[in-house]
Order: sequence, then C-alpha cells, then structure tokens
Amino acid sequence: MRFVISAFTFLVLFSYGAAYDPLDPNGNITIKWDIMSWTPDGYVAVVTMHNYQLFRHIISPGWSLGWTWAKKEVMWSIVGAQATEQGDCSKFKGNIPHCCKKTPTVVDLLPNVPYNQQFTNCCKGGVVSSSGQDPANAVSAFQLSVGLAGTSNKTVKLPKNFTLLGPGPGYTCGPAKIVPSTSFLTPDRRRKTQALMTWNVTCTYSQFLARKNPNCCVSFSSFYNETITPCPTCACGCQNRNNCVQSDSKILSMVGLNTPRKDNAPLLQCTHHMCPVRVHWHVKVNYRDYWRVKIAITNFNYRMNYSLWTLAVQHPNLNNVTQVFSFDYKSLVPYGSINDTGMFHGLKYYNDLLMEAGPHGNVQSEVLLQKDKNTFTFKQGWAFPRKVYFNGDECMLPLPDTYPFLPNLAPPNQLSIPTLIFVLLILSIAIW
Ligand SMILES: *[C@@H]1O[C@H](CO)[C@@H](O)[C@H](O)[C@H]1NC(C)=O
Ligand SMILES: *[C@@H]1O[C@H](CO)[C@@H](O)[C@H](O)[C@H]1NC(C)=O
Ligand SMILES: *[C@@H]1O[C@H](CO)[C@@H](O)[C@H](O)[C@H]1NC(C)=O
Ligand SMILES: *[C@@H]1O[C@H](CO)[C@@H](O)[C@H](O)[C@H]1NC(C)=O
Ligand SMILES: *[C@@H]1O[C@H](CO)[C@@H](O)[C@H](O)[C@H]1NC(C)=O
Ligand SMILES: *[C@@H]1O[C@H](CO)[C@@H](O)[C@H](O)[C@H]1NC(C)=O
Ligand SMILES: *[C@@H]1O[C@H](CO)[C@@H](O)[C@H](O)[C@H]1NC(C)=O
Ligand SMILES: *[C@@H]1O[C@H](CO)[C@@H](O)[C@H](O)[C@H]1NC(C)=O
Repeated sequence: MRFVISAFTFLVLFSYGAAYDPLDPNGNITIKWDIMSWTPDGYVAVVTMHNYQLFRHIISPGWSLGWTWAKKEVMWSIVGAQATEQGDCSKFKGNIPHCCKKTPTVVDLLPNVPYNQQFTNCCKGGVVSSSGQDPANAVSAFQLSVGLAGTSNKTVKLPKNFTLLGPGPGYTCGPAKIVPSTSFLTPDRRRKTQALMTWNVTCTYSQFLARKNPNCCVSFSSFYNETITPCPTCACGCQNRNNCVQSDSKILSMVGLNTPRKDNAPLLQCTHHMCPVRVHWHVKVNYRDYWRVKIAITNFNYRMNYSLWTLAVQHPNLNNVTQVFSFDYKSLVPYGSINDTGMFHGLKYYNDLLMEAGPHGNVQSEVLLQKDKNTFTFKQGWAFPRKVYFNGDECMLPLPDTYPFLPNLAPPNQLSIPTLIFVLLILSIAIW
C-alpha cells in the first residue's frame, strides 16, 4: 500500500520521461557532416555539432560522439578532436591511420593544444553552451579524413548508429539524413562555396534516459505565511544517504575531497532531500503594481562546480518581468516555447559559476514582476512556479498542498476533490 501511494504521488507530481520537452519543444543537437573534398580513397569532412537546446548545455567533461562505419572505413587523421581508441591497425604498413575501429568514439581536445592541432570551434574540452544562453558558443567542430570509403556522392555510405554522450547518457540520435549541401562564405565574404555532400544527424535529450532520479528539487516560502515548504523528502532518491557528509564534518578539511571522479559520482552534503541542487523561491514583497521574488540556488555536491548553469522557469507572470537583479534573464516565449517561460543564468565572471558545496556554493537573485490585473493573486499558490529546470533537468516541486497558503483562505470545505484526496493521502502517509 505504501508503495502504491508513493508510486502514485511520483507519477502525479513528477511526470518527466518523454523526449519532447514542453519548455523547449524544438530543442535538439544537430550533427552535420560536410564533405569538403574527395581523396583517392575517401573524403575529408567537417563535422559540426550545433546545440539548438535553449537552456541545456553540455557540461564538463564534455561530449563524446560515436558511430558505426557502414563499410571498412578508417580515420586517417582528425583535427580539433581525437578518437579515444586507435583500434587494430595492424593491416596497415607505413602510414598508420589515427583510428581503425568499426565503432569509433570521438572527443573534443582541451583548450591548451598547439595551434596546428586546432580547428574552428574546437578544443573546448567538449563543453558546448546552450543556444539560449550563448549562441556563439553553442557549436563544436572538427575535421576528419576518412579512408577506404566511397569517393563520390554515389558510392559514399553514411555512418550509422550515432551515439552522443554529453557527458552522461540521455541523448538519442536519429539516422543520418542527406540534406541540401551547406554553403560557406569565403573569408573575404565575397564568394560562396559549397560542400560536396552534407548529411545531418539529430539527437534529442530525455531526462528519463539520463537518470533514474531528479537532480534537483524546489522549496518555497513567502512573506504572507511563515511556513517554509521544504523540498520533498528523498526528492532525488536516498541511495546516497549512507555516504553523505554532514556540513560540519571534519572530513571537509581533507585535501582532495573536492576532486571530481571519473564516473562523476557525487559527494553530497546530508539533507533530507538528498539532491545535488536545491532551488528556493521566496515570494518577498507585495507592492501595488509589482511583486518581488527572491530566487536562491544551492549546490550540495562537494565534487561539482556548475559552470554556465541555467535555470528555466515556467510561471504565468514571467511575461511581465520588469527587472532581474544579479542574474541574466531571457524570455523563452519568442523561441517557440510555451507561454510564460524564461531562463535565468549567471553574469559572466560574477556568478556564472555555481561553486562546489560549502560557503560559496550558492547564487541568488531578485526578480521584480509587474502584476497583470486580470490574473495576479497570492491565493492557492499562484505565486509559485509551475515548472523549474536546473541545467536542463526538471526539478521536483513540493506537494501542492504543502505550499505556503495565504492566511484565512482555503478552509477545508473549499478544497476541491483532488486536493482533498491529496490531503488524505498525506495524512495517511503521516499516520503510518
Ligand atoms: C532541431 O532544432 C532546430 C532549431 O530549433 C529546428 O529548426 C530543427 O527543426 C530541429 N530538428 C529536428 C529534427 O527536430
Ligand atoms: C542540418 O544541420 C544544420 C546545422 O548543423 C542546419 O543549419 C540545417 O538546417 C540542417 N538541415 C536540415 C535539413 O535539417
Ligand atoms: C552528387 O553529385 C552530383 C554532381 O557531381 C550532383 O548532381 C548530385 O545532386 C549529387 N547528389 C547528392 C545526393 O548530393
Ligand atoms: C550501436 O551502438 C551501441 C553503442 O555503441 C551498441 O551497443 C550497439 O550494438 C550498436 N548497434 C548497431 C546496430 O551497431
Ligand atoms: C571549483 O572551482 C574552484 C575555483 O576554480 C577550484 O578551486 C575547485 O577545486 C573546483 N572544485 C571542483 C569540485 O572542481
Ligand atoms: C500567451 O499569454 C497571453 C496572455 O498572457 C495570451 O493572450 C496569448 O494568447 C498566449 N499565447 C499562447 C501562444 O498561448
Ligand atoms: C504583461 O505582458 C504582456 C505581454 O508581454 C503585455 O501585453 C501586458 O501589457 C503586460 N501587462 C502589464 C500589466 O504590464
Ligand atoms: C501557512 O501555510 C500552511 C500550508 O503550508 C497552512 O497549513 C497554514 O495554515 C498557513 N498559515 C496561516 C497563518 O494561514
């Protein structure tokens, strides 16, 4: 019975899963192969990865891109990236290819490589910004020389089974599709050239595939009710509970404690929610024509610095944001997102880095919103967000009936039936 209830509340409150993301319906990562020239045994291609997601970037340690060759192709050389394994090149004499694997995996280079190994938009350690935050850095590219391949657009075979890790799982890539050849402007911008052949691969993200549990949770408070609504207990799963660290533990002064692990395993501060990240939304002030919200983001992972973090929020009043203090704000509605969605991110060199857990592991901002006379109310939790995403992953919100209520409202006989069911459920859980 207990299981049934928690499964039920989980389904009701936290319905992520589909690759389709209502806050970013057209978001995807597109990988484009442009064949620039044919060679005696294959071709030279420029591979460009474009992150068309509005608020989900690829964080350190970066992307890795894999595929399966259709024939016996080899990678003679690569500029601006590298294959993680060379594979078995024993049948080659003299000139040895960079990679002979049937299913190569390619990763970006680090920023400090020599100039002659670089390529336009390469060498960022695989970090790619989201297009909503920094369109100029939402792209990554490398150049590839392929041998034992077709040498014309009739004989070349498209690679298959593309996989994109960024840096964890979550992306699913479709098949490569031949598209109209890309045209390029020459450096003096006076002449257009054209790729000999172009194909695209589109990859989409699903949080359900990426992780079993949410990665963040949301808590609420308000000026009109002293209740602080905490994050739901075990919002992010409690499997790390046995190896979490108390915030006053002596372990915290140990050297190397913060060093990230290869598998990205977190080291979390002990909390009842066990989330790496908490977002707090405080309804702070009520003015005649405006109201003010304070937003705070706290990092509870001792092994993670979030560079270029993003916070996407859906709230009906975000169409009337008047001023945002100490964060950047961008409305996402013009980009085809559903109504009343916006994205916050840090100011460059000021708070665009959300530091590891500890005294500096938080960032905050205040937002001034203009009341829309027709819809604005403090009743029934209206002032709290409908959806919150941190770094592109949806955060778990508190149970609707635990929201801070406006005093002298909502006596029990005004509760709707679904609300009543929730209250009964919570009571029955509490009685257990
Ligand atoms: C990928 O995203 C771009 C930009 O939003 C969009 O134009 C394109 O149609 C998308 N591709 C697919 C296959 O969804
Ligand atoms: C192929 O991808 C590029 C970006 O990498 C994009 O500009 C272009 O529109 C895509 N073409 C199609 C047909 O999806
Ligand atoms: C292949 O190349 C020929 C010209 O060399 C061109 O007419 C044709 O459209 C190309 N086909 C594709 C699929 O790019
Ligand atoms: C596609 O790639 C994945 C991961 O590299 C691999 O497990 C799978 O067997 C591949 N499928 C095919 C048809 O090559
Ligand atoms: C986070 O960044 C700071 C400053 O760059 C660095 O000292 C610290 O080691 C980093 N922590 C982690 C977990 O990477
Ligand atoms: C967005 O909201 C405004 C009012 O808040 C409404 O008039 C408009 O039709 C909405 N647009 C869409 C696409 O839902
Ligand atoms: C709220 O925003 C909408 C759309 O941006 C605008 O038409 C409307 O006038 C605004 N309302 C107020 C009270 O500013
Ligand atoms: C504050 O909100 C809680 C619900 O979270 C409610 O139980 C309580 O009655 C409210 N306080 C007042 C003074 O109305």
